[in-house]
Amino acid sequence: MVTAIGTPNKALVMYWGIENEALNLPMNSSLSVTLDESLNTKTSVVFSNKIKEDTLYINGKLSNSEADQKSVYLKKMIKKMREMAKIDKKVLVVSKNSFPSSAGLASSASGSATAVFALSKALDLNLSQKDLSILTRQISGSGCRSLMGGFVKWDKGTKGDGSDSYAVQIANEKHWPEFIDIIAIVNETVKKISSSDGHKRTMRTSELFKLRPKYAENEVKDLEKIISKRDFAQISEIIMKDSNNMHATMLDSYPPIFYLNDASREIIYAIHQLNESEGKNIAAYTFDAGANAHIMTLKKYEKKVRESISKVVEEKMIISSGQGSGPRILKEAESLIDSESLKPK
Ligand code: PMV
Repeated sequence: MVTAIGTPNKALVMYWGIENEALNLPMNSSLSVTLDESLNTKTSVVFSNKIKEDTLYINGKLSNSEADQKSVYLKKMIKKMREMAKIDKKVLVVSKNSFPSSAGLASSASGSATAVFALSKALDLNLSQKDLSILTRQISGSGCRSLMGGFVKWDKGTKGDGSDSYAVQIANEKHWPEFIDIIAIVNETVKKISSSDGHKRTMRTSELFKLRPKYAENEVKDLEKIISKRDFAQISEIIMKDSNNMHATMLDSYPPIFYLNDASREIIYAIHQLNESEGKNIAAYTFDAGANAHIMTLKKYEKKVRESISKVVEEKMIISSGQGSGPRILKEAESLIDSESLKPK
């Protein structure tokens, strides 16, 4: 029995659009920052002859895999990893997020990365970060960036089999620890269009999207250089423009996809106002496939950023996160599975 904890990541240049659905290969490279355990997923796994079939409990509910595509992918991955380990025991996976799921807070990223990490340890697979990243990518694209800490790049790759499409750490969490993410939760409900469906709809129908892959690819290159220099003025502009660009392609999809809501837009205005009144960029908003805002800033500006959005979001819905270091194993006492009954606790 193994229990692991892992965290979401927030992309600063985002991935949108899938080139190869079977392998989950992206249309563009992306670059993210791994968050600390302020938001986390805990996952326990146990393989046993007493378990009759592979069973997933996600956030207290038995997962009906047919209804949730990512659970289907996770079950496929379990089969694959079991074959790699050459065992035939079935598994119980119990996973809990400390934050709302499917609300644009990267629950699938932290869930998939933590599950693959825990499964690999339970099966004694001794996999490299590259291998873990490739396996996670096939459950949730963005999840492949949650296996390591600090700043992480997912190279789109060029090989048709996906063997060069995985994430690598470009700077660890000690390189620029002042760089933090302030998360403003403005909507806790499950989004109307899953990211899996959104990727496909935009690819199929948006004319604007044709311009995005090249644009994002160049931004990733620029971002790598800017991170090495720790230049907030430059990074902030790329982050905000990337978010606006990606959400423009969503709006240009047919029927259109709206992930942002009025509160998200109020936050966008508030951050531009704050930057203007400071005479330089001290904060940058970015939104995943959801209405909740991630505001990148430096530690010394945390108070100012929180104040600037206080009219839009209640204090208790604002979470500050530093940078995390990737998934790790927890002590047995923290297990979500009762070792006697092999049932969720
Ligand atoms: O990994 P998915 O399929 O849930 O796609 C989500 C992609 C974004 O979160 C919108 C962007 C990103 O790169 O994380």
